[in-house]
Amino acid sequence: MRVLVVGGGGREHAIAWKLSQSCLVDKIFIAPGNGGTRLHGENVPIKDSDIDKLTEFAQENNIDLTIVGPEASLVEGIVDTFQEKGLKIFGPSKEAAKLEGSKVFAKKFMEKYSIPTADFSIVTSKEEAEEKTKKRNYPYVIKVDGLAAGKGAYVVFSEDDKKKAFKEIWEENKFGKSANRVIIEDFLDGEELSVFALTDGENYILLPSAQDHKRVFDNDQGPNTGGMGAYSPSPLATRELLQKIEKMVIQPTLKGMKEIGHPYKGVLYCGLMIADDKPYVLEFNCRFGDPEAQVIIPPIKTDFAELLLKAVEGKLNEIDFELTEQYTVCVVMASGGYPGSYKKGIRIEGLPAPESLAHGVVFHAGTKFENGEYFTSGGRVLGVTCWDETLKGAVDRAYKVIQTIHFDGAHFRKDIARKGLKRLGVL
Ligand code: AMP
Ligand code: GLY
Repeated sequence: MRVLVVGGGGREHAIAWKLSQSCLVDKIFIAPGNGGTRLHGENVPIKDSDIDKLTEFAQENNIDLTIVGPEASLVEGIVDTFQEKGLKIFGPSKEAAKLEGSKVFAKKFMEKYSIPTADFSIVTSKEEAEEKTKKRNYPYVIKVDGLAAGKGAYVVFSEDDKKKAFKEIWEENKFGKSANRVIIEDFLDGEELSVFALTDGENYILLPSAQDHKRVFDNDQGPNTGGMGAYSPSPLATRELLQKIEKMVIQPTLKGMKEIGHPYKGVLYCGLMIADDKPYVLEFNCRFGDPEAQVIIPPIKTDFAELLLKAVEGKLNEIDFELTEQYTVCVVMASGGYPGSYKKGIRIEGLPAPESLAHGVVFHAGTKFENGEYFTSGGRVLGVTCWDETLKGAVDRAYKVIQTIHFDGAHFRKDIARKGLKRLGVL
């Protein structure tokens, strides 16, 4: 089988790495890929957003299956375009990807199908937002409707926070069309959890749960990032809680999407707040998370290519899904200055040889390979990922590997998985 992975981050490295272990896969292409994905296949210089070129490439190169990492091309309709040409592709259609592409769509959908989420109102102007927030107590949350690269949600604790949100959304017009509609919703107090369902539109498989670390600094301080690390499974996700999540969130979502004529296929990523043992949906994403993919893909024992292919073909019920019983931890090494401005082209030293890591992989994100050396090329550079029978063991391993890797300005959080360790009583 010839597969194409669309994207160039740590998530796509994890996908390509896992596919490279499948006996069904003969050749992997990654568009555009990064310094690490070249170890598993051939990087193709096509942007992940260039749907026409990707379609052409898949046709000309007899690609049997395409897997899309990033949300933007899914929301733009890459799946529909590929399918029109008779190409197999893993991911939701344009209409189904609206669960991530439009928060207003997602909120109205959840309201219609009684899926628990924060109470909300929708505004279309600064004046309307003023009116809606005037009598509100802090905290509350303001979110722009469309894609915003993880930067479109403001948790408002004070007048200053509100001013900042209003300024960025309506004066600086930072989000363009994504902010034509804006949601104002209740603040939910609890612990965040990410749960993933792999679905063919009819059947689904629950993938391991995970917890992300969105803020750049330890103890959840500093600005939001794409994610500074993750661990899986989350000790918060007990069997009882997962059952509730399936019943209250996953099943009604899949049923509802089918009912409105847009069956959801691909990975349904549920970003949840757990409050008083009850799940509330903060957001849906229409793909694997990054860096969550780096911790939920390694424990999958089932052949990954077969799993994704069966999902595309609507035959997930034929799959015998197996996981290892391990904890996996990913610590992101980022460029100094990220998520603000940062330098690129810095030499990376001390990367361990892949075969020297028996219980881990260093997933590449913003890296490029030139003249036999690796250089930084993005904000999140590496995702040092390790596994073990215990969460503590996985954490210790990841931080041990990190000690060997150097690049000028490298920054990483020292507290990845601390919440999980506390919950397990290990800290
Ligand atoms: P979102 O893009 O909707 O996932 O929001 C980004 C982040 O903002 C979430 O990961 C939460 O940390 C926070 N957040 C969003 N909505 C709420 C809410 N209703 N209550 C509390 N925190 C929230
Ligand atoms: N790590 C958050 C995301 O992938 O959306």
